[in-house]
Amino acid sequence: MPEPRETAVYTHGHHESVLRSHIWRTAANSAAYLLGSLKPHMRILDIGCGPGTITADLAELVPEGHVTGVDRAPGVLEQARATAVRRGLANVDFAVADVHALDYPDDTFCVVHAHQVLQHVGDPVRALREMLRVTRPGGYVAVRDADYAAMTWYPEVAGLDDWLDLYRRVARANGGEPDAGRRLRSWALAAGCTDVTATSSTWTYATEDERAWWSGLWADRTLASAYAERATEGGHATGDRLRAVSAAWREWGRREDGWFAVLHGEILCRKQV
Ligand SMILES: C[S@@+](CC[C@H](N)C(=O)[O-])C[C@H]1O[C@@H](n2cnc3c(N)ncnc32)[C@H](O)[C@@H]1O
Repeated sequence: MPEPRETAVYTHGHHESVLRSHIWRTAANSAAYLLGSLKPHMRILDIGCGPGTITADLAELVPEGHVTGVDRAPGVLEQARATAVRRGLANVDFAVADVHALDYPDDTFCVVHAHQVLQHVGDPVRALREMLRVTRPGGYVAVRDADYAAMTWYPEVAGLDDWLDLYRRVARANGGEPDAGRRLRSWALAAGCTDVTATSSTWTYATEDERAWWSGLWADRTLASAYAERATEGGHATGDRLRAVSAAWREWGRREDGWFAVLHGEILCRKQV
């Protein structure tokens, strides 16, 4: 019997090369579309919070409110808790939860947020329905996801097209949708959201430091992460192919004229009063 779609596997896992990219994230560089709607007293649920750097920023932005970060993977929550302790935050807590079945009553949170999560779940419409359910009337569901097919770069280094093709095939085989950014609005409408503001924004990597960081984490992730294991175990790539993709990333990172842009879709959905 096929597994239910919502049991999708999180493609990247939580290897150091993956967390290296997550801990760079801030509310400013990853949730700017939401910040103008926050009020100091708000109660926020941050779903798929990972190592919690965005969660911690949100907690600082609602000093009279509270943020709960949840993730399906218990291990990464230890890192999120350590982030909150290091930053001296008393208005944040963390718990294990699956976005498809949240253990909270209806109408609980002012904001229900998910950054780079819905691309990895098996049933994003069900996930959004659940997010909307636990949002208070007048509150917001806020989601941002990258769109892999819309990522673009320069120069054309042999092997990077192969990276994109391979990544998208592995992510889909794991039950996710790597081109999620363009689909968020459609998923939100299907989930019953009626007041949906859809925007987009990018991350750009071009300086020497940015290129070294972005290319290095992908070069490492391609060889030593859950993604690498799934690529080989799933029969999508040989070790030689992964080594070639990793080398392509290193080569792009060395190119002084290198430039990479990551497009994201964003939705801010207001729940009807
Ligand atoms: C790409 S990371 C994003 C982490 C964080 N939001 C950020 O942007 O830095 C995706 C996170 O979603 C979690 N995740 C995947 N599927 C999930 C699900 N069904 N319910 C809750 N969390 C999930 C993963 O464990 C992972 O930590």
